[in-house]
Amino acid sequence: MAGLSGRFSAFALLAIVLPAAIVAVLGYVSLQQWRRSSELLFREQARALAAMAAEKVSLVLRRYEDEFLSRLESGLGGGPLEPRAVDALLESTPLIQRLAIFDRRGRRLYPVTWNADDAAILGGAPPDVQAALWEGGGRREFEVGDHVVVVTVLRPRQGAPVLVAWSRNIDVLRRDVLDGTLGALEAPTIAAVFDHRARRVYSRLSVDDAELVTAIPFQDALPGWSVALYQPSGIGPRYAIRRQLMLFTAAFGVLIAMIVVGAVATWQLTRRETEMAQLKSDFVANVSHDLKTPLSVIRMFGETLEMGRVTTDEQRREYYRVITRESERLSRLIDNVLDFSRIEGGRRTYQMARAPIEPLVHQTIDAFAYPLREQGFKLEVHVDPDLPDVSMDSAAVEQALANLVDNAIKYSADRRSVRVEARRLEGGVTITVADEGIGIPRDEQARIFEKFYRVGRSETQGRRGSGVGLALVRHVAQAHGGRISVDSEPGAGSRFTLWLPG
Ligand SMILES: Nc1ncnc2c1ncn2[C@@H]1O[C@H](COP(=O)(O)OP(=O)(O)OP(=O)(O)O)[C@@H](O)[C@H]1O
Ligand SMILES: [Mg+2]
Repeated sequence: MAGLSGRFSAFALLAIVLPAAIVAVLGYVSLQQWRRSSELLFREQARALAAMAAEKVSLVLRRYEDEFLSRLESGLGGGPLEPRAVDALLESTPLIQRLAIFDRRGRRLYPVTWNADDAAILGGAPPDVQAALWEGGGRREFEVGDHVVVVTVLRPRQGAPVLVAWSRNIDVLRRDVLDGTLGALEAPTIAAVFDHRARRVYSRLSVDDAELVTAIPFQDALPGWSVALYQPSGIGPRYAIRRQLMLFTAAFGVLIAMIVVGAVATWQLTRRETEMAQLKSDFVANVSHDLKTPLSVIRMFGETLEMGRVTTDEQRREYYRVITRESERLSRLIDNVLDFSRIEGGRRTYQMARAPIEPLVHQTIDAFAYPLREQGFKLEVHVDPDLPDVSMDSAAVEQALANLVDNAIKYSADRRSVRVEARRLEGGVTITVADEGIGIPRDEQARIFEKFYRVGRSETQGRRGSGVGLALVRHVAQAHGGRISVDSEPGAGSRFTLWLPG
């Protein structure tokens, strides 16, 4: 048996558990890889989108300011600066919040008067920056407090070049530039713009419970500023991936669980089958042995008689009795096995008839009179007077009782005592067979009624038997609507009670 279940374990490991484990590991690894690569792809796409958005914002801003500058430049054409013309120009360009114009020597040409704020913000271009602009041209952005100041040198076709510095109106920037470019970004992505102090300047929708995907800095148009892309939680490709991952994992889990359950069930089935096969082979060996013993006794006594070796009548009668007793034992055994096979095939039928219990009890005991006397058993029989008749198959109940008595004799050791009682109970009758024999371990008491089941193996128990006796008794009890129970103490004895309804 151990060999077979050992083989099964090895087989299960090779054929079921190993492939399942490999599938699980492969599945997990490829899912993780898929998650990582799609996350990467998603992030790259988001970066490209953010870069494009930043580019667009810079472009629009540039164009806006270039237009302003070219208008300013043409206004400068030649003669002295007209502050009122610049005022009008500023009026029509709300993006430019503050403006200052200086000449080559650093004298302020515009505005005519300026407050401390203007001076602090626009007058703060470092001298080296100014020098570089005068020399090489171009445009510089730098931060002054909350503001971004842009400085450039304008060289009108006629007239002297001037240095122009301006700062932007954040509200107008937000409305005219950021919203126009970023607001059109494809949903569900949310774009937000942060200034050089990491304050959120713009976002189309609230990003409070959205997840940051990527953030990239603007190039030089807005130094220190950045555009960030958010994914609203619960939607978008990232969540779709997560959902799919969860779905796959769950499906995998169910698959693996099913494989494990299947393997365990198969293993249990195999184990039970193996056990049953073992019990059956024990059964065949035991029955053969049980058949052989009475047969050889009968044959030996028959031969002795035939040879005329037995001289006295008394001895001859004794030999005949032995032969009769052994044949009775033989037919009991054969009946047991035949009835058992009928039960197994579902062909066992019972002929019910109302009959008294008392004669049945005595008849059964009488059949065991010889072995009881010979082995020195103390026998007590008690039958309640005026027991009700019971509806039963007398032969079947007799066979059941014979099995109980047979067990009581067979499983007794030094204290040889059998007590049979028949009493009225719950409108029916109980027949009790008690011995003071070897008893039955508590955890085996439920199993002894199973077919082929024997406590220990026949060798260890030292007593032969086929293991079907009690299975038969239980079948008879159930067929009569009654029950069989056992009460036993190892080493002290057993007490079997068969109850039949009236
Ligand atoms: N009175 C008893 N005392 C102790 N053990 C018992 C007793 N009756 C039954 N058993 C245990 O229960 C097992 C099953 O009994 P059962 O009568 O079904 O089989 P068996 O006696 O081994 O074989 P057979 O089919 O020949 O009766 C026995 O093998 C024995 O271990
Ligand atoms: Mg028995």
